[in-house]
Amino acid sequence: MTAYAPVFEPAASFIPPRDHLPNHPPQNLTVATTGASGAIFLRQFLQAVERDRRVQAVNFIASDSALRVMAEELGLRGRADVVSRILGTSKSRPSRKIQMQSNDDIGANVASGSYPADAMVVIPCSVGTLARIAHGDASHLIERAADVTLKEKRPLVLCVRETPLNKIHIRNMFRAADAGASIFPLIPAFYYRPASLDDMAREFAYRVLAHLGLPQPHAFRWKA
Ligand SMILES: Cc1cc2nc3c(=O)[nH]c(=O)nc-3n(C[C@H](O)[C@H](O)[C@H](O)COP(=O)(O)O)c2cc1C
Repeated sequence: MTAYAPVFEPAASFIPPRDHLPNHPPQNLTVATTGASGAIFLRQFLQAVERDRRVQAVNFIASDSALRVMAEELGLRGRADVVSRILGTSKSRPSRKIQMQSNDDIGANVASGSYPADAMVVIPCSVGTLARIAHGDASHLIERAADVTLKEKRPLVLCVRETPLNKIHIRNMFRAADAGASIFPLIPAFYYRPASLDDMAREFAYRVLAHLGLPQPHAFRWKA
């Protein structure tokens, strides 16, 4: 007889109601980035929302570890003009729609359910941030905004990146999904034969946007 006791109650088939969202397709996005590998996916995602005229406002939050990973993977150092540098635009022409928020500012707009954010994406999402979201630890703005997104039953997409996964990671993905999040692992597709890493990351970003109701005109579509 095994001594194993299930950790969870049977999964509730929980589908967040979306008909009461402020805007669908979403116009106001919260985009967070954390210290997992995959900064090029963030870059392609932010470039896509910057281009997309349906998206009018983006609140962008980076954890300290995200900046550390961006230094390694994109060669970007420090917080100054980080949005322009991620986008690859001139700092004299900063983005008008992407506003950076401090991860220490738990009084920022997206920390409140009264602020009309339509959806939130964490790209890439570390397993540390996943764990804090899954356990309702809202001590920094990223986790607080995610907590608010879930309690308001708005779409929350977690682009989790780690390999291999241990049972803690898998349980935390279950917990977050059970609370209404979409677990959208940073796993790109190859069947459209990406010509470059940017190409691969762009198509992944397009899949996340399509999932949120923002299909992109140049996205690959399977026609078999
Ligand atoms: C270059 C680099 C790559 C990393 N890659 C990952 C990763 O793919 N997934 C992950 O969960 N953590 C990764 N980490 C570790 C996280 O950055 C670390 O656990 C950090 O505390 C996460 O903090 P955050 O969740 O507040 O961003 C990486 C760290 C570095 C420096």
